Amino acid sequence: MNILQYTDNARLRRALNLIQNPLNVRVLFVCLGNICRSPAADGLMHEAVKESGTANRWVIDSAGTGSYHIGDLPDPRMRAHARRRGITLDHICRQVRESDFYDFDLIIGMDHSNISNLKRLAPTPELEQKILEMADFFEPHTVCDHVPDPYYDGAEGFELVLDLLTDATRNLRDTVESWAENKPSNSLA
Ligand code: 4NP
Repeated sequence: MNILQYTDNARLRRALNLIQNPLNVRVLFVCLGNICRSPAADGLMHEAVKESGTANRWVIDSAGTGSYHIGDLPDPRMRAHARRRGITLDHICRQVRESDFYDFDLIIGMDHSNISNLKRLAPTPELEQKILEMADFFEPHTVCDHVPDPYYDGAEGFELVLDLLTDATRNLRDTVESWAENKPSNSLA
């Protein structure tokens, strides 16, 4: 288990401090299309918190910055690769909206372009601090510094996304839960 040193990362610490209720952490994963990476992150995060018995402390959703696939199920290739790992992806694609900055505590983009688009959408500088990158939760020494878009790739691209997101969602879970247990005014006794 790798719990990130949130105390050493000011951006992460600021975002964690904006979480309103550690017993109800609301996280939104965001990519471009909301049919490959972010629904996979959504499904794997649901799995990660089920694994740790903490699903009741989390609200998990995903959205896309683009509008091309609104109403669609995840890409059939992403669904097939996830299914081989025992994960069913049945999210219905939606576009990210300004109200998400009020409805979620953490808004996590898959790549630098998602982050730029999210920053443009953030209603206030304070709410912009809720934006984090999935790579913030990668294992140390991971070769990638973002979750690469697999849309135009072959099977390896989808497998790489699932490998990166399996580690990152577990690390996100452990980081937030460890922060919640150790913060001075915690209510998780
Ligand atoms: P995603 O991948 O952002 O991981 O969902 C993509 C899906 C669709 C498109 C681009 C990226 N597209 O251009 O339709």
